[in-house]
Amino acid sequence: MMIEGLLPSATEIDFVSRAELDLLWDIVLSPYHLQVVNFSLENGILEDINKGVDALAYCTKKSREVGHQIDVIVCFLEHIGLVVSREGKLQLTDPARKLLLRSSRLNLATLCSDHAIFLKGFPYFKELFTSGLEQARPLWSTLASLEELKAHFARRVPFEESRRPYRWSSAWLLVRPYLRRRLSDFRRVCDLGSGPGAFAAQLVAVAPDLHALAVDINFGYTEYLKTSLDDIASLPASLRERVTLQACNVMHDRVPESELYTANRFISGLSRVAARGWLEKIFAEMPAGSVFAGCDFFLSGNAEHDRFTSRLFIYNVSYGQSLMADKNNQLPTRSEVTWNPPWSFLELRTLFTEVGFTDFYCEEADGPMGYIEVRRP
Ligand SMILES: C[S@@+](CC[C@H](N)C(=O)[O-])C[C@H]1O[C@@H](n2cnc3c(N)ncnc32)[C@H](O)[C@@H]1O
Repeated sequence: MMIEGLLPSATEIDFVSRAELDLLWDIVLSPYHLQVVNFSLENGILEDINKGVDALAYCTKKSREVGHQIDVIVCFLEHIGLVVSREGKLQLTDPARKLLLRSSRLNLATLCSDHAIFLKGFPYFKELFTSGLEQARPLWSTLASLEELKAHFARRVPFEESRRPYRWSSAWLLVRPYLRRRLSDFRRVCDLGSGPGAFAAQLVAVAPDLHALAVDINFGYTEYLKTSLDDIASLPASLRERVTLQACNVMHDRVPESELYTANRFISGLSRVAARGWLEKIFAEMPAGSVFAGCDFFLSGNAEHDRFTSRLFIYNVSYGQSLMADKNNQLPTRSEVTWNPPWSFLELRTLFTEVGFTDFYCEEADGPMGYIEVRRP
């Protein structure tokens, strides 16, 4: 993958408002709007409009070219807030320019394309009312046997590989809440369940004194490790020298020593049954005074924010339900399908505090996301 252009600076990241990101999340979490935007992205409609086009002439020509009613698409793009029509000319709005153009370093088009998979779940939503999904998620817990875990994640590598572009282009979204913390207090960070190392690279890009160790079970698989190392090697020297990748099964292996531990989009994968055991394990392994933080899909207690989180959860479980309904489906992620509602800040505060962590801090982030931070006394 060509990574270099994908890592925006802190100033660029800060230049995007929460309202702009909430608009994009709102689109992503609306099955209808998501289809409009994905169609527009696939057919280069936003790129065309960015050149400045006459509405009527463009819609007529493009409709002929692609064989669809482009005026209908443009009409929806206006409703959604991505396009405006002024005196017969079409223009992109600021969020469309910043977040959906190929030339933008903040391009989040993969957020739209990656979430298209969830549309398969739409017809299965109502089955959730009768299906009674499992609650335990043994593969994402300290309770899974080592052999089972290795075999499962080996089968899962192609799925993770397909999400690599999304992980890289959305890493700056995860970094946003960290920008408001005192990153200069730390020299070393260990990112747990890191994915390809994208967050680690983006974090060191905004924190010049930080060295990151990204650990993931996937680095134990040769191909995934090799592609991830190639990605890191393509970064400028000032960044690649400060990012290390290491295979680690964070459920069974001891976590490496660090000052700051991060786990993004990881806690949301832990069930109510599994979370305490894992937090007790890492609490015992973390050095005194170190900090644990995570940006993830959490409920904050504010209904305006939590509607986003709930809609993402609906996507997840409905898609899971579609996998369960398809008896021939061999996808490894099928065995991870459970009823695992998002964690709330309140629940997390209680859990982390009971485990022994102190200084619980939480903050809403964009769309369905939230940030938490605790200290290991
Ligand atoms: C939802 S992804 C999040 C990746 C990355 N943190 C991000 O936000 O882009 C969860 C990651 O946790 C990793 N993971 C799951 N179980 C693990 C385990 N027992 N040990 C280490 N990594 C694990 C997966 O391989 C996957 O890369």
